[in-house]
Amino acid sequence: MLSQSQKHTGIFCEQNWSQFSDSDHQTWNILFERQTKLLEGRVCQEILDGIVKFNICGNQIPKFNEINEILKNATGFSIVPVTGIVPDDVFFELLAQRKFPSTCFIRKPDQLDYLEEPDMFHDVYGHVPLLLNPVFADFMEKFGQKAVEATKKGLLKFAGRLYWFTVEFGLMKKEDKLVIYGAGVTSSKTESIYSLESSLPVRINFNMKRLLRTEYHTDSFQKTYFVVNSFEELFHNVLNLDWDALNNDCLNLEDIPQGILLGSEEHVSIKTIN
Ligand SMILES: [Fe+2]
Repeated sequence: MLSQSQKHTGIFCEQNWSQFSDSDHQTWNILFERQTKLLEGRVCQEILDGIVKFNICGNQIPKFNEINEILKNATGFSIVPVTGIVPDDVFFELLAQRKFPSTCFIRKPDQLDYLEEPDMFHDVYGHVPLLLNPVFADFMEKFGQKAVEATKKGLLKFAGRLYWFTVEFGLMKKEDKLVIYGAGVTSSKTESIYSLESSLPVRINFNMKRLLRTEYHTDSFQKTYFVVNSFEELFHNVLNLDWDALNNDCLNLEDIPQGILLGSEEHVSIKTIN
């Protein structure tokens, strides 16, 4: 059996900020300026607050050690530089320790609109602002703990779905308006518009059992979004998550394809920006 350090060989690295070229910094700056303008009125206030606190609006790629100082004081989270996509078990263990892995490369200028693998813009711009929010940070840590449990019970698929439909692609209802909080949407020019304004996807109220049975796709826009009322709602749902009870209750039922409403479900109202 591999020791922890052997198991993790090749995953962790240094940010090596000085290696970034002028072109890399320019790509970050273009993405940052473009997305921040686009997100006005479309994301939850907590993300806007996070961006302001971070002051990552400089025209250069942010330094992880500077981000970590701010994060440490706010919620005790920190960014851990990694070489690429992290194995699920390692990823969940890191979250449970209030650590968030971030890649250290930035996309190329001809990849501004889409990249298959997450890069630093997705990992930092998309995820880090909310790690400054105490309730969301608590949710992330608790999610990590529950996901570690799920992995040990052979229920990894369901932890992945929970992460996907909340941390990556979650929407939130604020009064009569929908806003974005998921990092996959926040960091995407096209999906930040589509998720709120397209008539194609279904947007339904967050429901843990329903969510865990819902399939997701990584290679196209989502056809189903789950809408929460608050981060407190998310936190309490994950706090009370009982894998054994859920396994007996609903996890062995058929998967639900994306893009459909079940019998009693209704679309959440889609009044969006302005
Ligand atoms: Fe992500």
